[in-house]
Amino acid sequence: MSIIADLSQLVSDAFQELGLDRGFGAVATSRRPDLAHFQCNGAMAAAKQARRAPRQIAEEVVAILRAHPEFDVVEVAGPGFINIKLTEPALAARADEMRLDERLGCERSAAPERVVIDFGGPNVAKAMHVGHLRSSVVGDCLQRLFRFVGDEVVSDIHMGDWGLPMGMLIVELERRRPDLPYFDAELSGPYPEEPPVSVDDLAEMYPKAAALAKEDETEREKARLATAQLQEGRPGYRALWQHFMNESMKAMKADFGALGVHFDWWLGEAAVNDAIAPLLASLEAKGALELSQGAQVITVVEEGDNKEMPPLIVVKSDGGVTYGTTDLATIVDRVARVDPHHILYVVDKRQHLHFEQVFRAARRCELSGRAQLEHIAFGTVNGADGKPFKTREGGVMKLGDLIARATEQANLRLEEGALAKDVDQEIHDEIARKVGLAALKFADLANDRESDYVFNLEKFTRFEGKTGPYLLYATVRIKSIFRKAAERGFEAGTVSGPLSDAERKLILVNFLISSAVQRAHAERRPHLLCDFAYDLAQAFSRFYNNCPILAEEDPAIRASRLALAGLTLAQFELVLGILGIETPERM
Ligand code: ARG
Repeated sequence: MSIIADLSQLVSDAFQELGLDRGFGAVATSRRPDLAHFQCNGAMAAAKQARRAPRQIAEEVVAILRAHPEFDVVEVAGPGFINIKLTEPALAARADEMRLDERLGCERSAAPERVVIDFGGPNVAKAMHVGHLRSSVVGDCLQRLFRFVGDEVVSDIHMGDWGLPMGMLIVELERRRPDLPYFDAELSGPYPEEPPVSVDDLAEMYPKAAALAKEDETEREKARLATAQLQEGRPGYRALWQHFMNESMKAMKADFGALGVHFDWWLGEAAVNDAIAPLLASLEAKGALELSQGAQVITVVEEGDNKEMPPLIVVKSDGGVTYGTTDLATIVDRVARVDPHHILYVVDKRQHLHFEQVFRAARRCELSGRAQLEHIAFGTVNGADGKPFKTREGGVMKLGDLIARATEQANLRLEEGALAKDVDQEIHDEIARKVGLAALKFADLANDRESDYVFNLEKFTRFEGKTGPYLLYATVRIKSIFRKAAERGFEAGTVSGPLSDAERKLILVNFLISSAVQRAHAERRPHLLCDFAYDLAQAFSRFYNNCPILAEEDPAIRASRLALAGLTLAQFELVLGILGIETPERM
């Protein structure tokens, strides 16, 4: 158990002894470590409930706690805050206990849940862009975090592989190569094994096809027809689609692999195609469908709405289904597959209305089983102009190029800092890759997910400030201390006093890991972990600058400092691991 949970229990016991609710006993670390290590603010609320003076209640709680051997100071401050300071031996012993625990005192969830996380969401044939990067990085962090806490996670990439873009590509290819067997309506196979196009061809074809369809009504109509025929199962189109998918997935697997992001399910919109007809039938049977201007819709207005809430369109007037229809069918599919407690959608906040409509429709039509549906919305990645980030040529930046640019920038920074100098080229490249990825990922995660941020590689790759490279540097520094310690035969002992200010502060920050993990999990907000990691790095840096480790002559103090450095390293590795950031051995 974490020290915070432990102390909370103790203080809760005291409240209970006084006939008050245990809930008032929650303890947090103090923001004023000079005055207290921990504090409990429950007396104020307890006083309101019991109609008594808060200070009096706090005094009574303190009187009970005073006998506790770990406490140096327990006192009432201000209107009724309970301040707690541990004795130095207790503080050191608690740090040591944490060091020896493989979860570093982070509790497992008392009630693990099954959670589907829908993230990544790349569209087949369309290049992945920074928006997909953000979904991937945030989604991957959440899957790691939920797993760490003990939940059972299934991640689904949910590709956009079934809509109008597919029809556009089919029409575009027919325009270029009408002779291919896929377009012969009389034929039903067999078709060639060899793909007729590469993923680069697709990337080149798609913008052209999209532009054509935009300009020209008949082209648009052709694409719509091809999409409908694909969805109805026209063999040549299905065969062609399979080729598009195979080629795109190869590229996506390479991209996501390079990012260190893995999915349990590689499903997408197409995967529920056959579930659409039965879904529509069941919606019909439930009387959920209404006719509106030729379309079939589900009304999703709820009591208390103060904004207009348009209905969810499930069948368009031309008979086609929508993004919303596939999302409903996907909910049914997920419930049937794993019966999750939660489905998390890590998607751009601009899709807020879509998800609100889908969730309401799913609840209204009882499609979601026990699952709580949550839109984990994130903000836009902008360029320096404050508009969604584009390349210099005005296009969207491909994920692969993005990683290459981050690595390149990382290389410059390493050179600037005279880092990673005396290592083999291969190791150097590996360090640059890790620094570049850490820069990209940390910048993305460190901003509250709902805020927009400006994409600035020059800033993200710096070795000072709140950046990924700064954190990597801190971990590498500790690893290097341990290498040198081993050379001299020094080993970590137990954390023990006397403790200097910087050591005490570092221990107190170390204690915060469990609450950072818990809050990040409860709020689905990775930036809380980044805040913690940054505080830890700063506290470590102060400790490092003020407390000699290898140069310390007293062997007990040296061993204790090594132990503290070891604890801090373990914390970095745990948190960076949850953030999906790899650390190099040296730099
Ligand atoms: N493919 C979509 C896009 O690029 C994201 C998919 C999100 N997930 C979902 N179930 N709708 O915008």
